[in-house]
Amino acid sequence: MRITPSILNADLARLAAEIDRIPSSDMVHLDVMDGHFVPNLTFGIAVVESIRASTSLPLDAHLMIEDPDLWAPRYAEFVDSVTFHVEAARDPSAILKSVRQRGARAAFALKPGTSIEPYVDLIPQADMVLIMTVEPGFGGQSFMQDMMEKVRRTRELIGGDKNIYLQVDGGVSLDTIAIAAEAGADTFVAGSAVFKASDPDAMIAQLRNKAHSY
Ligand code: DX5
Ligand code: ZN
Repeated sequence: MRITPSILNADLARLAAEIDRIPSSDMVHLDVMDGHFVPNLTFGIAVVESIRASTSLPLDAHLMIEDPDLWAPRYAEFVDSVTFHVEAARDPSAILKSVRQRGARAAFALKPGTSIEPYVDLIPQADMVLIMTVEPGFGGQSFMQDMMEKVRRTRELIGGDKNIYLQVDGGVSLDTIAIAAEAGADTFVAGSAVFKASDPDAMIAQLRNKAHSY
Protein backbone atom coordinates (compact mmCIF):
# COMPACT_ATOMS: atom_id res chain seq x y z
CA MET A 1 0.00 0.00 0.00
CA ARG A 2 1.62 3.20 -1.22
CA ILE A 3 0.62 6.75 -0.24
CA THR A 4 1.49 9.43 -2.78
CA PRO A 5 0.56 12.86 -1.37
CA SER A 6 -0.43 15.57 -3.84
CA ILE A 7 1.12 18.98 -3.22
CA LEU A 8 -1.77 20.72 -5.04
CA ASN A 9 -3.20 21.87 -1.72
CA ALA A 10 0.16 22.66 -0.14
CA ASP A 11 1.62 26.17 0.08
CA LEU A 12 2.95 26.45 -3.47
CA ALA A 13 5.16 29.41 -2.54
CA ARG A 14 7.06 27.18 -0.10
CA LEU A 15 7.18 23.93 -2.02
CA ALA A 16 10.50 22.57 -0.79
CA ALA A 17 9.50 23.18 2.84
CA GLU A 18 6.11 21.57 2.25
CA ILE A 19 7.73 18.47 0.74
CA ASP A 20 10.02 18.29 3.79
CA ARG A 21 6.85 17.77 5.89
CA ILE A 22 6.02 14.46 4.12
CA PRO A 23 9.22 12.38 4.35
CA SER A 24 7.35 9.06 4.53
CA SER A 25 5.64 9.56 1.15
CA ASP A 26 6.13 6.61 -1.18
CA MET A 27 6.13 9.12 -4.03
CA VAL A 28 5.31 12.85 -4.11
CA HIS A 29 2.43 13.44 -6.54
CA LEU A 30 2.88 16.51 -8.77
CA ASP A 31 -0.30 17.70 -10.50
CA VAL A 32 0.71 19.37 -13.76
CA MET A 33 -2.27 21.22 -15.32
CA ASP A 34 -2.18 23.32 -18.46
CA GLY A 35 -5.47 25.24 -18.41
CA HIS A 36 -6.56 23.37 -21.57
CA PHE A 37 -6.93 19.67 -20.82
CA VAL A 38 -8.38 20.73 -17.46
CA PRO A 39 -9.80 24.14 -16.49
CA ASN A 40 -6.98 24.92 -14.07
CA LEU A 41 -3.30 25.82 -14.33
CA THR A 42 -0.57 24.79 -11.90
CA PHE A 43 3.12 24.48 -12.83
CA GLY A 44 5.22 23.06 -15.62
CA ILE A 45 8.51 21.39 -16.32
CA ALA A 46 10.75 24.19 -14.95
CA VAL A 47 9.13 23.91 -11.51
CA VAL A 48 9.28 20.11 -11.64
CA GLU A 49 12.99 20.33 -12.44
CA SER A 50 13.49 22.57 -9.38
CA ILE A 51 11.51 20.19 -7.17
CA ARG A 52 13.73 17.34 -8.42
CA ALA A 53 16.79 19.26 -7.25
CA SER A 54 15.26 19.98 -3.83
CA THR A 55 14.25 16.48 -2.65
CA SER A 56 15.44 12.91 -2.87
CA LEU A 57 11.90 11.51 -2.50
CA PRO A 58 10.54 9.69 -5.57
CA LEU A 59 8.41 11.98 -7.75
CA ASP A 60 5.17 11.01 -9.50
CA ALA A 61 4.09 13.50 -12.21
CA HIS A 62 0.39 13.45 -13.11
CA LEU A 63 0.16 15.24 -16.45
CA MET A 64 -3.28 16.77 -17.00
CA ILE A 65 -2.13 18.42 -20.21
CA GLU A 66 -2.62 18.32 -23.93
CA ASP A 67 0.05 16.77 -26.13
CA PRO A 68 1.48 14.18 -23.69
CA ASP A 69 3.10 12.54 -26.75
CA LEU A 70 5.51 15.49 -26.75
CA TRP A 71 5.71 16.26 -23.04
CA ALA A 72 5.63 12.92 -21.15
CA PRO A 73 9.15 11.87 -22.30
CA ARG A 74 10.49 15.29 -21.29
CA TYR A 75 9.06 14.99 -17.77
CA ALA A 76 10.59 11.51 -17.58
CA GLU A 77 14.02 13.16 -17.41
CA PHE A 78 13.17 14.66 -14.00
CA VAL A 79 10.75 12.32 -12.22
CA ASP A 80 10.50 8.66 -11.25
CA SER A 81 7.01 8.07 -12.63
CA VAL A 82 5.07 9.82 -15.39
CA THR A 83 1.30 9.49 -15.76
CA PHE A 84 -0.51 10.87 -18.81
CA HIS A 85 -4.20 10.86 -19.75
CA VAL A 86 -5.28 8.52 -22.56
CA GLU A 87 -7.97 11.06 -23.52
CA ALA A 88 -5.21 13.47 -24.60
CA ALA A 89 -2.81 10.95 -26.16
CA ARG A 90 -2.36 10.20 -29.86
CA ASP A 91 -0.25 7.05 -29.37
CA PRO A 92 -0.44 5.87 -25.75
CA SER A 93 1.65 2.79 -26.42
CA ALA A 94 4.50 4.89 -27.85
CA ILE A 95 4.35 7.27 -24.88
CA LEU A 96 4.66 4.41 -22.38
CA LYS A 97 7.64 3.09 -24.29
CA SER A 98 9.48 6.39 -24.54
CA VAL A 99 8.92 7.20 -20.85
CA ARG A 100 10.38 3.83 -19.89
CA GLN A 101 13.32 4.31 -22.25
CA ARG A 102 14.19 7.41 -20.22
CA GLY A 103 14.30 5.32 -17.06
CA ALA A 104 11.00 6.37 -15.48
CA ARG A 105 7.96 4.28 -14.62
CA ALA A 106 5.19 4.83 -17.16
CA ALA A 107 1.50 5.12 -16.34
CA PHE A 108 -1.76 6.02 -18.02
CA ALA A 109 -4.80 7.67 -16.43
CA LEU A 110 -8.53 7.48 -17.07
CA LYS A 111 -11.00 10.28 -16.35
CA PRO A 112 -14.25 9.19 -14.64
CA GLY A 113 -16.13 8.97 -17.96
CA THR A 114 -13.46 6.81 -19.67
CA SER A 115 -13.76 3.03 -19.64
CA ILE A 116 -10.76 0.72 -19.17
CA GLU A 117 -12.00 -1.69 -21.86
CA PRO A 118 -10.45 0.04 -24.94
CA TYR A 119 -7.10 0.16 -23.09
CA VAL A 120 -6.79 -3.42 -21.88
CA ASP A 121 -3.84 -4.10 -24.19
CA LEU A 122 -1.93 -1.15 -22.70
CA ILE A 123 -1.90 -2.59 -19.19
CA PRO A 124 1.06 -4.99 -19.68
CA GLN A 125 3.03 -2.12 -21.25
CA ALA A 126 2.50 0.10 -18.18
CA ASP A 127 3.95 0.29 -14.67
CA MET A 128 0.81 1.84 -13.20
CA VAL A 129 -2.82 2.55 -14.09
CA LEU A 130 -4.50 5.62 -12.54
CA ILE A 131 -8.27 5.56 -12.10
CA MET A 132 -9.51 9.10 -11.33
CA THR A 133 -12.04 9.23 -8.50
CA VAL A 134 -12.90 12.90 -9.22
CA GLU A 135 -13.04 14.96 -12.42
CA PRO A 136 -9.43 16.10 -12.79
CA GLY A 137 -8.71 19.80 -12.24
CA PHE A 138 -9.11 20.62 -8.57
CA GLY A 139 -8.28 19.30 -5.11
CA GLY A 140 -10.81 18.95 -2.33
CA GLN A 141 -13.60 17.27 -4.31
CA SER A 142 -15.73 14.31 -3.14
CA PHE A 143 -14.61 10.73 -3.78
CA MET A 144 -16.66 9.06 -6.55
CA GLN A 145 -17.51 5.70 -5.08
CA ASP A 146 -19.15 4.67 -8.37
CA MET A 147 -15.63 4.37 -9.85
CA MET A 148 -15.03 1.22 -7.73
CA GLU A 149 -16.45 -1.02 -10.44
CA LYS A 150 -13.72 0.27 -12.80
CA VAL A 151 -11.10 -0.23 -10.08
CA ARG A 152 -12.29 -3.82 -9.56
CA ARG A 153 -12.25 -4.55 -13.29
CA THR A 154 -8.74 -3.08 -13.63
CA ARG A 155 -7.52 -5.14 -10.65
CA GLU A 156 -8.94 -8.24 -12.36
CA LEU A 157 -6.99 -7.36 -15.52
CA ILE A 158 -3.74 -6.65 -13.64
CA GLY A 159 -4.18 -9.76 -11.52
CA GLY A 160 -1.47 -10.33 -8.94
CA ASP A 161 1.31 -8.56 -10.85
CA LYS A 162 2.96 -6.48 -8.11
CA ASN A 163 5.00 -4.52 -10.64
CA ILE A 164 1.90 -2.84 -12.05
CA TYR A 165 0.48 -0.41 -9.50
CA LEU A 166 -3.21 0.50 -9.41
CA GLN A 167 -3.60 4.11 -8.28
CA VAL A 168 -6.69 6.15 -7.36
CA ASP A 169 -6.70 9.96 -7.22
CA GLY A 170 -9.32 12.32 -5.85
CA GLY A 171 -11.18 12.55 -2.57
CA VAL A 172 -9.02 9.93 -0.84
CA SER A 173 -9.24 10.35 2.95
CA LEU A 174 -9.46 8.29 6.13
CA ASP A 175 -13.16 7.84 5.29
CA THR A 176 -12.69 6.56 1.72
CA ILE A 177 -9.27 4.90 1.39
CA ALA A 178 -10.45 1.49 2.62
CA ILE A 179 -13.22 1.46 -0.01
CA ALA A 180 -10.63 1.90 -2.77
CA ALA A 181 -8.25 -0.63 -1.20
CA GLU A 182 -11.02 -3.19 -0.97
CA ALA A 183 -11.79 -2.66 -4.67
CA GLY A 184 -8.14 -3.44 -5.50
CA ALA A 185 -6.21 -0.16 -5.47
CA ASP A 186 -2.71 -0.32 -3.93
CA THR A 187 -1.48 3.25 -4.53
CA PHE A 188 -3.36 6.29 -3.22
CA VAL A 189 -3.08 9.98 -4.01
CA ALA A 190 -4.19 12.18 -1.13
CA GLY A 191 -4.03 15.96 -1.37
CA SER A 192 -6.23 17.83 1.04
CA ALA A 193 -6.36 14.91 3.50
CA VAL A 194 -2.59 15.14 3.98
CA PHE A 195 -1.98 18.88 3.74
CA LYS A 196 -4.97 19.92 5.84
CA ALA A 197 -3.78 17.63 8.66
CA SER A 198 -1.84 19.30 11.47
CA ASP A 199 0.83 16.60 11.06
CA PRO A 200 0.92 15.61 7.37
CA ASP A 201 3.48 12.83 7.88
CA ALA A 202 1.40 11.24 10.66
CA MET A 203 -1.61 11.38 8.33
CA ILE A 204 0.34 9.36 5.74
CA ALA A 205 0.85 6.62 8.33
CA GLN A 206 -2.83 6.69 9.30
CA LEU A 207 -3.93 6.45 5.68
CA ARG A 208 -1.56 3.54 5.09
CA ASN A 209 -2.95 1.72 8.14
CA LYS A 210 -6.53 2.26 6.95
CA ALA A 211 -5.66 0.96 3.50
CA HIS A 212 -4.20 -2.19 5.06
CA SER A 213 -7.17 -2.71 7.35
CA TYR A 214 -10.09 -2.89 4.89
C1 DX5 B 1 -7.11 16.44 -9.15
C2 DX5 B 1 -5.71 16.02 -8.87
C3 DX5 B 1 -5.53 15.37 -7.55
C4 DX5 B 1 -5.85 16.25 -6.39
C5 DX5 B 1 -6.21 15.41 -5.22
O1 DX5 B 1 -7.21 16.83 -10.47
O2 DX5 B 1 -5.26 15.11 -9.85
O3 DX5 B 1 -4.23 14.82 -7.43
O4 DX5 B 1 -4.80 17.08 -6.01
O5 DX5 B 1 -6.65 16.23 -4.20
P1 DX5 B 1 -7.66 15.68 -3.10
O6 DX5 B 1 -6.99 14.56 -2.41
O7 DX5 B 1 -7.89 16.86 -2.23
O8 DX5 B 1 -8.91 15.23 -3.81
ZN1 ZN C 1 -3.39 14.01 -9.46
